[in-house]
Formats: sequence, structure tokens, C-alpha cells
Amino acid sequence: MQTHLRGRDVIDFQEWTRDEIETVLDVAFALKRDRALGQPHPYLRDKVLAMLFFFASTRTRASFEAGMAQLGGHAQFIESRSTQIAHGDTAKEIGEILGRYNDGIAIRNVDWGVGNAYVREVAAASRVPVLNMQCDHFHPHQALADLMTIIERLGDPRGRTATISWACAKTYSKPLSVPQSLIMLLPRFGMNVRLVHPPEFGLMPEYVEQARENARLGRASFEMLDDFDEGIRGTDVVYAKSWGAVMSTSDEAEEAGYVDSYRDWIADERRLATAGDDAIYMHPLPGERGTEVTDAVIDGPQSAVYDQAENRLHGQKAVMALTMG
Ligand code: CP
Repeated sequence: MQTHLRGRDVIDFQEWTRDEIETVLDVAFALKRDRALGQPHPYLRDKVLAMLFFFASTRTRASFEAGMAQLGGHAQFIESRSTQIAHGDTAKEIGEILGRYNDGIAIRNVDWGVGNAYVREVAAASRVPVLNMQCDHFHPHQALADLMTIIERLGDPRGRTATISWACAKTYSKPLSVPQSLIMLLPRFGMNVRLVHPPEFGLMPEYVEQARENARLGRASFEMLDDFDEGIRGTDVVYAKSWGAVMSTSDEAEEAGYVDSYRDWIADERRLATAGDDAIYMHPLPGERGTEVTDAVIDGPQSAVYDQAENRLHGQKAVMALTMG
């Protein structure tokens, strides 16, 4: 267990050691148990977290805000549109100023080519920890909650296989952040990873390479496939969600055409039946029912989606208690 995490940023857990992440997991499970027992745990009394959103959220906002209240502190919700950012407040100024009012700054900015750089620029200027609530590259707190959920559902993750797959969704071009954080995190805990997507929906090559290296170091395997059925067969975790074709095209109509040509990439009962006996279905939500996943799968006994959503709360409370205390 590491005890020197006060002041640390979370841009992605790739920047934390495995030992440090294990400390977060330990604290997260302890806080979850305390909450189940009704045991107060005000580790952040009188502390304040600024939550700056450039994009919509249900789970992230609600879980960070509830988490700060349960830790005895307060979270202030700041929507970029109602700030002076559009009129000139720079990332450096946001880091300097919000860092002087608060004990932590959490940011969601998923704009492609912008978000990660923005979060890092704020972090460089801030005197308090900066927590990434999702950028164009990473969604670290989702990946943390997902790892917690896998451990709860399957036990020791070592030697288990997680299929991180693209699935068809039509509403909007979703960031690459969830699959990128997951393919890097899971092999560090000994999980074999299958990354599955149609050719047009590749991830950023540097993170795919890092995932491959993490698998080597974690004595796990890392495979890439472009066949959805093959990717699911015999796996332990079916994590199927959509993401954009931003690595292939910047043309929205062209991207919509790609999406349309893979309409059959839906997580359904037939496919789930080919996974391992105790396999679970995972999705960070919001999911697109009828295109990305069937009702029978997302509402079925193998679905872990509500545990994933709940674990956002416990994982983030552990991060905040350790970094902002
Ligand atoms: N999974 C997730 O980040 O959900 P929200 O977009 O609702 O915050």
C-alpha cells in the first residue's frame, strides 16, 4: 500500500504504478463497505472539488458530487458554457484560479484533439490535484470502476480474458477514451485483452502499443481482431460499446456510412451465449438499445452495468480521499 498520493493528478492510471492503483482499489472497497454499513467517512471535511464540464454527463457528475458530500466536502458544478471560457479564460488561468479556490479540479473535455491537452494544461498551472473526468484520450475513473466490477464479479482477474469491442451506435461519435484506458489498465492486472473493431474504427496507435507492452509485463496476452463473433467466443468479459472513426476520417457523413455498414455489430443473446460460462456483459452507459446491445443482454443476468455505474462512486471517493486529503 502506498501512502504518498496526496497532491497527485489522475490524467490516466497509466501514469500511476500498479502498487498505487492497488492502494486505490483497497480504499475503494473499504469505502464501499463503510457505506453499506452506514459508517460515516468524512475524510474531506471542508474540502471543495471544482467540476468543470465541457460535455454532458449523468453518472460522472452525479457520482463525483455525491462522493464529495459523503466524504464531508462539497463539489461545485461548473458548466463551461456559463463561464467566461468562451470569452478568453485560458486553461492556465482556470488552473491557477480554480486551484486557489478549491482542493481539487475535475474536468470533462472530450473534444477530439483538444481535451487531453486542455486537462494537462490546467494541471500544469494548478496547485491542487486535477482529476480527468474523461477527455478525448482517456476515461480513467470509468476504467477503475470497471476493474473493481470485474474483481467483484469474477474474482482474481489474472488469466481471465476481456473482450473490448466496438459495437454499432448511431446517436453520436463517442470518444476513444473508454477502450483506450481499458486496454492499457486490464493487462497490468494480468488480464488477457482482445481488442475487436472493424478496420475503420482503430484506436490511437501509441495506446495500442502501450497495451501490448503492458500485457507483456503483466504476463498476459493482447490480440487484435476484426471479427465480432470470434472476439466474443470463450471470453470472460464482453465489453462492447461504440466509438468514433476519428482515426480514419474527419468527415461526419463518411463516418455515418461506416457505422451503417456495421449494423450487425450488436451485443445480443446469440453472441453472449458463445462467451465463457460465467461471462459478464459490461458497458459504461449510456448504451444504445437496439443497435449497440439488445434489451435481453443489458437487462439480463450477465449484465454488470449497474455495478459498474455504482463503482464509479466508490472508486472516485478513494481517489479523492487519497489525493485531496
Ligand atoms: N459512463 C459515463 O461516463 O457516464 P456519463 O457520460 O453519464 O458521465
